[in-house]
Amino acid sequence: MQKRSHWSNRLAFIIVAIGSAVGLGNIWKFPYIAGENGGGAFVLVYLFCILLIGLPIFVAELYIGQKAQHNAITSFAILEKKEKSLWSMAGWFGLISAFLILSFYSVVGGWIIDYFYQSVSLNFADKSDEQIRMMMTNLFSSPGKQIFFHFVFMSLTFGIVIGGISQGIEKWSKILMPLFFILLTGLLIYSITTPGFQSAVEFLFSFNTSKLTASGILEAVGHSFFTMSLGMGAIITYGSYLSPKENLFGTAVIIGFMDTLVALISGLIIFSVVFSYGFDPASGPTLMFQTLPVLFAKSAMGQIVAMAFFGLVLFAALTSAVSLLEVIVSYFHESLEWNRKKTTTIFCLILFSLGILSALSTNILAEFWVYKKMTFFDFFDHITSHYLLPIGGLIISLFFGWKIPNENIAAVIKNKFSLNLIVWSARLIAPIGIAAMIINSLL
Ligand code: PHE
Repeated sequence: MQKRSHWSNRLAFIIVAIGSAVGLGNIWKFPYIAGENGGGAFVLVYLFCILLIGLPIFVAELYIGQKAQHNAITSFAILEKKEKSLWSMAGWFGLISAFLILSFYSVVGGWIIDYFYQSVSLNFADKSDEQIRMMMTNLFSSPGKQIFFHFVFMSLTFGIVIGGISQGIEKWSKILMPLFFILLTGLLIYSITTPGFQSAVEFLFSFNTSKLTASGILEAVGHSFFTMSLGMGAIITYGSYLSPKENLFGTAVIIGFMDTLVALISGLIIFSVVFSYGFDPASGPTLMFQTLPVLFAKSAMGQIVAMAFFGLVLFAALTSAVSLLEVIVSYFHESLEWNRKKTTTIFCLILFSLGILSALSTNILAEFWVYKKMTFFDFFDHITSHYLLPIGGLIISLFFGWKIPNENIAAVIKNKFSLNLIVWSARLIAPIGIAAMIINSLL
């Protein structure tokens, strides 16, 4: 067997893991679900979910991958010291989720490429509000365009993953993530100068609990998985390329903190612009594609801001898509013993084909309901974030909390308080929260 590749050092792991965690979930999804659920109240619940569910499960996945040094399925059996483990089911759920999520994630990635291209070609300038809104309508109604941009996004992801751990994923994350943070800082500074900044801060941070609804709480639970790349073995896989000697708990805290910070900053940037022009914060998924470009066209610096913004989203989406693909590639590369090139090529073709169903969900297949008025796109998004990721996370959490001996966990979490917080969250709090969410979705 080949020697396992490893990230160059702990910092490299932190960069790639932030690359995975920070994605469309932070910049596209978080602001619109916060907007739909009343802002501050939702943010407060979200912060608790990250602390009590996201962080413990992140630690659990990292522990499993780092100790076992294998892919997301085999790792469970290695830690149980058995030939086969029933717990590997979590890995199988994860693998299925990776296929479904990446297939529609790449379609959204394609929209971003189109919008990035439009902003670089200065196409938002001199257009009326209506014309800019029509850009999304045109894109959505064209199967050819959607499939083309989905293909471009998938090809970029392919190009990075085929290079392998250090020459592909690590090398590219070290280029894309610093660029991402430079753009984010620039946009934050810009947003502070806009008249809507104050209202954006109030909207996100005035914790008014009267606006809290049960569905908002459950949405926050589900989102804490998606945003930290949990429940599908991405962190097990990335953790398996981390040298077993590196400090695990501190690393997890840094990544959780950065992921949350990026979501909040993205929210501030987007809502500053939205409030500067008196738009509706609850406009939903089209917030980024219809509301923002209209506003970019209005401000003096708008074109530059638009370029920076869509560039930033593109880099974030790419590094997340890479981690989704790596879950699939690492498993089949190791279990079928195909080389990386062959594995990556074949699975990218399969993923591209699967993604076509989502690309057609806004046009030819827009009236094709897979289940209860859901298109393929909606259905893939729904079953992964409401069922597959939470179930995967539930199994991982229980495995870590009840199967791993306490002294082994104590060896990586030295602080007593943190240890108890993580272990009891993994044993009880996270499983109860997740179970409540799944039951509620079923009803
Ligand atoms: N965390 C990514 C985001 O916020 C999405 C993702 C989910 C990536 C699961 C990998 C695994 O967009």
